[in-house]
Amino acid sequence: MTSTSKPKAPEKKEQVHRVLLGKKQILVTEDEPLLVQLERAGIHVEYQCREGYCSSCSIKLLWGNVIYPFEPLAWVQSGYLLACCAIVKSDIEIAFFD
Ligand code: FES
Repeated sequence: MTSTSKPKAPEKKEQVHRVLLGKKQILVTEDEPLLVQLERAGIHVEYQCREGYCSSCSIKLLWGNVIYPFEPLAWVQSGYLLACCAIVKSDIEIAFFD
């Protein structure tokens, strides 16, 4: 008797990182930009274009690493990130402007 079951493909292990924002902690994945995941967690972030043009979604990055799947046209100031297109690659801590 032969088995018809196929060998299982290795499961994609989702990378989950912590985002610290004041006393809040949000878990995010590398599958979507930070802005979408902050919104889903109920955190309001200013934005306009959502495509890396305007920099209105700029947030302070206190520590940790993010990457951009494409080079944003907006200038990313040192120590800041663009939430609409940043992919979180480690635990990070962020802060909004006062
Ligand atoms: S919303 Fe415009 S750069 Fe992020």
